[in-house]
Amino acid sequence: MSGFVSSSIGKKFFMSITGLFLVMFLLVHLTANLALLLGPDAFNIVSHFMGTNPIIQVMQPLLALGFIVHIIYASILTLQNQKARGSESYNKTVNSHQSSWASKNMYILGSMILAFLVLHIFNFFWKIKVTGSPLLNEVNVDGEMMENAYALVAGLFTDASLGVVYSIVYMLGAIALGFHLTHGFWSAFQTIGMSNDKWRKRWTVVGYLFAFAVGGGFAIIPIFLMLFA
Ligand code: HEM
Repeated sequence: MSGFVSSSIGKKFFMSITGLFLVMFLLVHLTANLALLLGPDAFNIVSHFMGTNPIIQVMQPLLALGFIVHIIYASILTLQNQKARGSESYNKTVNSHQSSWASKNMYILGSMILAFLVLHIFNFFWKIKVTGSPLLNEVNVDGEMMENAYALVAGLFTDASLGVVYSIVYMLGAIALGFHLTHGFWSAFQTIGMSNDKWRKRWTVVGYLFAFAVGGGFAIIPIFLMLFA
């Protein structure tokens, strides 16, 4: 077992499993965030549910672990590939014709997403869970008191001095994530053995649709809030 974990295919396997786990997180996170488009009450109810539901509270540390494993293994594999490539200039030329731009830049795209995530965690998660913010002052929604998470999120994108900058950074983060998924999605299914010639085409199409929905879905939120909040 320890041989598999440290082998190249073992590392790719763990990257794929954690990647697919993160795909599920993105689906839930995007769905919850799209409630922002329905107005303050809808988003505050969803946010309150996410912040108090016991299953979500267990999933949160697991998610953090998934991100860490994904990043560590991606870094190790990239370094190994770079070393191996020095002696394989022929393969590099052949592959460069077959692979997409995203597949050749997965590590750079991943690093952009990580940089975005650090800022993002500080913007919302850190304020909700650790420091608090005057914007979060409790509101009454249908008779129940809850944190005003809508004011915190909308406040960031409509801020008089930095709102536009944050909106652009969030859109770039969403676009990088979309490109990362165009390759990562089908590649994960391939690595875990759930793909063949026929299914590879199908996973690629599903992957592109998912990437477009996730990238586009996250990107429209700052635009919508800048225009209508
Ligand atoms: C416009 C886009 C986005 C908005 C409005 C948004 C909103 C939020 C909010 C309000 C929280 C805090 C939740 C809480 O602690 O109660 C949060 C946490 C988080 N977000 Fe986002 N998010 C966006 C995009 C993204 C993207 C693209 C990613 C991944 C690449 C992401 C990953 C995370 C993670 C890992 C957390 C911490 C775990 C959690 O609280 O669920 N978010 N986000």
